[in-house]
Amino acid sequence: MAWVTGGVCNGRSVQVGIVGGTGPAGRGVASRLAAAGLSVTLGSRDEARAAAVAESVVGRWPEHELDVVGASNEQAARSELVVVATPWEATVATLAPLVDALADKVVVSMVNAMAKAGRELLPLVPPRGSMAATVQAALPHSAVAATFHHLPAADLEDLTRDLDADVLVCADDAGAATVTAELVDSIEGLQAVVAGSLAQASAVEAFTAVLVSVNIRNKAHASLRLTGLHRE
Ligand SMILES: NC(=O)c1ccc[n+]([C@@H]2O[C@H](COP(=O)([O-])OP(=O)(O)OC[C@H]3O[C@@H](n4cnc5c(N)ncnc54)[C@H](OP(=O)(O)O)[C@@H]3O)[C@@H](O)[C@H]2O)c1
Repeated sequence: MAWVTGGVCNGRSVQVGIVGGTGPAGRGVASRLAAAGLSVTLGSRDEARAAAVAESVVGRWPEHELDVVGASNEQAARSELVVVATPWEATVATLAPLVDALADKVVVSMVNAMAKAGRELLPLVPPRGSMAATVQAALPHSAVAATFHHLPAADLEDLTRDLDADVLVCADDAGAATVTAELVDSIEGLQAVVAGSLAQASAVEAFTAVLVSVNIRNKAHASLRLTGLHRE
């Protein structure tokens, strides 16, 4: 199935919606995708908050002329391609009313389930093994892909910072994996690495807790770079 026709970044401004888009993760992904020329709708439970957040994202980088607008989560879910950036515990309830709007679309989950324990983040394993699998179960008519888990939002949000990371992509549907990899690759400094089926997302999500803990210990913003891959 052709989930998004024409490719994500081949000169066409694909419309991306972000459910739960007003937090650091949603703002960061929105800033980078819009800087790559895509149109982004930040979704929220509160349209006025979404509009104010979108205005502040656009106003922070006037030279980039970012195409970012704010809307309800329902409106954001009507976009061609939709990213889920909600806290893990709010994800299923947020997506329940969006099942029809998200049908026949690629839905990208960047949701991590973690708990703070002292100075560490510990991975929480949802009953289905990952939040991505949980999202897929909540959206039976969508093709869910998992990506963006390891990228610190502070780096994504700051367009003066150069990104340099491999970004793992997991999906059961080959078309969803391709579209999601294109989405990742549209962001300068990021390279998508397709890691396999959605079952792999449990390890990817869990490793985020390790990475965040490393960053806390080192006061750093490390992400992931794989060695030994054949680069183009
Ligand atoms: N922060 C990072 O560096 C980072 C990086 C990669 C992945 N992630 C993942 O991305 C997701 C979002 O991260 P974040 O740091 O942006 O989270 P966040 O700020 O806690 O939440 C994002 C947005 O979700 C909405 N939300 C909050 N509580 C909600 C609830 N109970 N029900 C429905 N919506 C609710 C809020 O938007 P409204 O109030 O406007 O509705 C909020 O702005 C998480 O799953 C996180 O693990 C984060």
